[in-house]
Amino acid sequence: MLGPDLARTLDLAAAAVRQARYVVALTGAGVSVESGIAPFRGPGGIWTKYGEPSPLDFKRFTADPRAWWESRVADERENRRPEWKDFERAQPNPAHIALARLELTGVLRHLITQNVDGLHARAGSRRITEIHGNRYRLRCLDCGERFPRHEFTFEQLPPRCPPCGGVLKFDTVMFGEPIPPDALRTARAEALRADCMLVVGTSAVVHPAAELPMLTRQNGGVIIEINPEESALTRACHLSLRGAAGVVTPELAALVEGVRD
Ligand code: OAD
Repeated sequence: MLGPDLARTLDLAAAAVRQARYVVALTGAGVSVESGIAPFRGPGGIWTKYGEPSPLDFKRFTADPRAWWESRVADERENRRPEWKDFERAQPNPAHIALARLELTGVLRHLITQNVDGLHARAGSRRITEIHGNRYRLRCLDCGERFPRHEFTFEQLPPRCPPCGGVLKFDTVMFGEPIPPDALRTARAEALRADCMLVVGTSAVVHPAAELPMLTRQNGGVIIEINPEESALTRACHLSLRGAAGVVTPELAALVEGVRD
């Protein structure tokens, strides 16, 4: 049962989404919490547990990719990060599924995610920009091409790009690493094109992702947040739906599609 405030805000949000010409979503770790993947910040967050990585991480990788990969392969072999198992177990939750359905019905035109877990694609979303990469892919630092991780054996380290021989790293963007230009270009173009942005499950403190809703807003677009807590973006949002993504997103989708009135 939704409280009266949330129910009223949901009606307003559904009307705004219905009226919009080009709706884009921006998602963060909160959308995958109900799939069993920990967020980064706040209680139970990965950075809360281990501390935020160093901004020098990417520099360290490029200085000695082989040493980085050797240490990573050893970490995986010895299962030093129990959270990695959560990714293997995770399944798309009702929020991922509702966003995929909104794309299928032509309401949602693009989805930008900061998540690297691949759950939006597994739920059926197709028009996705993974602005922080994808943990199941490797990316060449020379030519930028991406490859499925399962195609590599990691016997020779660092792994090398099959076409160009460049060093491969995880597609996941490291601290201190620039966002891959193709992803950033698409994300900005989609945010500028949108006249409504659904911002789901992000603290909105990491840039440049956090600036994307402001591009939509500067163009006169409506910003709708789904988050059980306030975020750095809340004051810039036109509507804030206070609740878990797995509950609120399907409710919103059902209202937009006219399944509930
Ligand atoms: P954060 O961990 O910073 O924030 C998670 C957000 O999800 C918070 O605002 C929570 O209130 C919210 N939340 C928690 N449970 C939720 C639920 N069930 N439904 C909806 N929202 C919920 O995660 P991000 O904002 O995604 O970057 O973090 C951004 C970036 O910081 C990440 O992509 C990562 C990290 O450093 C890189 O690693 C490059």
